[in-house]
Amino acid sequence: MFRIAELPGFVAISDGRDEIEGLVTYVAEDDRCEVVSLDAVEQGAGIGTALLERALEAARAAGCRQVQLVTTNDNMRALRFYQRRGFRLVALNPGALERSRELKPEIPQIGLHGIPLSDELVLARDL
Ligand SMILES: CC(C)(COP(=O)(O)OP(=O)(O)OC[C@H]1O[C@@H](n2cnc3c(N)ncnc32)[C@H](O)[C@@H]1OP(=O)(O)O)[C@@H](O)C(=O)NCCC(=O)NCCS
Repeated sequence: MFRIAELPGFVAISDGRDEIEGLVTYVAEDDRCEVVSLDAVEQGAGIGTALLERALEAARAAGCRQVQLVTTNDNMRALRFYQRRGFRLVALNPGALERSRELKPEIPQIGLHGIPLSDELVLARDL
């Protein structure tokens, strides 16, 4: 379990408006290098790409040779987004969301596009 507010990360802030447009958090210590969260308020405006590249740069500077991240089986946009940016699928954790719901019961049963939310997919990119 991660507490996002306690992790290092970067925010995207729009010019002159002081509004947060996106957030990436990551872990880069010892042998654990992972992008933990990535969110863009407005999608398709390049914010996710910029934040991801910034986090990968920080991970590289911390000595990481590879970065992992986890997404869910319903997140088609994320799967497209990461694979087009050099990430490859490295693991499938079937039923992982059922176990996560024991800690976080508010995780919905049905995810994006009406797809039952049940599995985790692990992606990795060499740095
Ligand atoms: C996944 C996510 C982080 C991607 O962020 P994003 O800001 O929408 O991504 P970008 O805008 O950088 O790139 C998305 C697409 O928009 C296009 N794009 C980039 N800049 C653009 C611009 N200025 N104008 C229009 N389109 C643009 C890119 O070409 C890209 O297309 P591609 O995937 O075919 O290459 C975002 O959709 C999101 O916040 N999703 C909800 C949270 C989530 O699922 N996070 C990931 C969980 S693991």
